[in-house]
Amino acid sequence: MKTLPTRKLKTRYKNLLILIKENWFKLLFAMGCMLVVAAATSATAFLVKPALDDIFFKKDVQMLKLIPLVIIVIYLLRGIGMYTQEYLMNYVGQVIIMRLRNDLYDRIQELPIAFFQKEKTGVLMSRITNDVNIIKSMVSTTVTGSLKDCFTIIGLTGVIFYRDWKMAVFAFIVLPIAFYPVVEFGKRVRRVSTGCQEAMAELSSFLHETFAGNKIVKAFGMERYEKKRFFDKTLALFKLEMKAVVAKSLPSPIMEFLGGLGIAFVIWYGGYKVISGNSTAGTFFSFMAAVLMLYDPVKKLSKVNNSIQEGLAAANRVYDIIETESNIKEQDNPVQIQPGRHRVTFQNVYFKYADNMVLKKINLDVEAGEILALVGMSGGGKTSLVNLIPRFYDVSDGQILIDKIDIRNASIHSLRSQVAIVTQEPILFNDTIRNNIAYGNQNASDKKIEMAAKAAYAYDFIQCFPDKFETTIGELGGRLSGGEKQRICIARALLKDAPILILDEATSSLDTEAESLVQKALENLMKGRTTFVIAHRLSTISYAHRIIVLVNGQIVEEGKHDELIACQGEYYKLYQMQFGDNQIGK
Ligand SMILES: Nc1ncnc2c1ncn2[C@@H]1O[C@H](COP(=O)(O)OP(=O)(O)OP(=O)(O)O)[C@@H](O)[C@H]1O
Ligand SMILES: [Mg+2]
Repeated sequence: MKTLPTRKLKTRYKNLLILIKENWFKLLFAMGCMLVVAAATSATAFLVKPALDDIFFKKDVQMLKLIPLVIIVIYLLRGIGMYTQEYLMNYVGQVIIMRLRNDLYDRIQELPIAFFQKEKTGVLMSRITNDVNIIKSMVSTTVTGSLKDCFTIIGLTGVIFYRDWKMAVFAFIVLPIAFYPVVEFGKRVRRVSTGCQEAMAELSSFLHETFAGNKIVKAFGMERYEKKRFFDKTLALFKLEMKAVVAKSLPSPIMEFLGGLGIAFVIWYGGYKVISGNSTAGTFFSFMAAVLMLYDPVKKLSKVNNSIQEGLAAANRVYDIIETESNIKEQDNPVQIQPGRHRVTFQNVYFKYADNMVLKKINLDVEAGEILALVGMSGGGKTSLVNLIPRFYDVSDGQILIDKIDIRNASIHSLRSQVAIVTQEPILFNDTIRNNIAYGNQNASDKKIEMAAKAAYAYDFIQCFPDKFETTIGELGGRLSGGEKQRICIARALLKDAPILILDEATSSLDTEAESLVQKALENLMKGRTTFVIAHRLSTISYAHRIIVLVNGQIVEEGKHDELIACQGEYYKLYQMQFGDNQIGK
């Protein structure tokens, strides 16, 4: 576990307390109910004496009527108190869960792409589902449990002392000894519980990956391998959980044993006093009833520490995320980029993901309305370059300007509203085709959506589905073919109708016929827009105003198709590889 400075830990716990405090009224009411429950429990123990002495020994008829009635009332009050308190405490617990989940999701959605590449999806999911629940149980068991138990213990202790204070003093000597194992094992619970939660997150991450990638698991016959990996993980988790069980379960029996010693003493000493005539049977049994009833709240209280330790471990993990700072920051008063045509300028841009410089000394001035094609070998840095424009990542050095505004000074929302992008991997959501195309433009009219679909050459295949635009396409668009997915992505970008257009291998999954049709639609769309188009198939970029060739993160050539062919450099080589010698120059 990461060790945090105490100050930071304190702020975290304070944040949790603030969450709890927000519901103070309900908590106060719940506490009132707890007092009722505790008082009722203590009163039951108290009544043992009059019941025994007055009814059984003195044979008092008046008491015979009164005591059962009082007991009925006590139990009724106790029941109402218990239910109300349970309801309120769970209400508060669930509100806290909801708040923490919302805070987490709110934070995670704001974090940059780099964060999602670093963190595993399954782990993040486990934070929102699993860890938050552990915090809730900490809050409800601790606050409910401990307060109710404390009140009950106080009440019962009162009865015990009232009945026979000397005997009480002796019986209580064992208490401090009993709490020692609780504290010691609590520390272990926290440690083991962190391990368990991490293993759990690891497990959900593994599940996510092997279910999502199940086609490859099957295709490569890796079912047995993945099963073994999973079994290893569950075994590790099992071992950890068992360690937690040991740490959690040992304090209770130790306490019970010590409690047993106390009870043995009480029977011996109290019985002696009754026999020698110094006390009544009623006093003794009332005392005993209180001692026995004490046993349950004390045992529960000993478990509260476990739940606090587990909860704090989970809280730390949740706050680790909530406190993550995004490195894609916005200025306090960011410039709003106005809608319209834009010039995009790269000035001495360097970019690295980790250590390895992926883009070096990029100088590029793309005029408003210019169509720029980026070509080059796989891994050359094309996608990385265009990712910098909507600030998916920030440059490591240099700057990118839109109409002379450094994009780091612009409002991220206004910047991204000016960019429409078709990413290299088609990313769609498990929703209807209509909603996928209208993503970000929820209010678009059906007519506009149909037009975008037509332009992206998607209309015909959509019409073939039974539910047409209302067809749900499965997780990540899993029910569509590669080319269909790509065309929905293009339609989505077309509908956005933004002045800066980024097409990263937008037509790579289409057949030649579909490609040439979509190509025409795209060419129409590109008119008047500042466009960055990435393509491996050089035939698809013949209309570009300018072509740049990226090799190992550097622009090595720049110019029009014919010029680049003429200088017989990198572009010429790429072209030659695709079309063969006899086609050159065509
Ligand atoms: N998220 C990432 N973290 C670290 N390195 C990355 C990341 N994404 C890409 N890279 C590295 O950056 C380099 C450039 O990748 P990029 O995706 O920009 O290439 P590309 O020109 O788009 O290639 P392709 O034509 O295959 O799409 C590659 O060496 C790649 O390994
Ligand atoms: Mg790429």
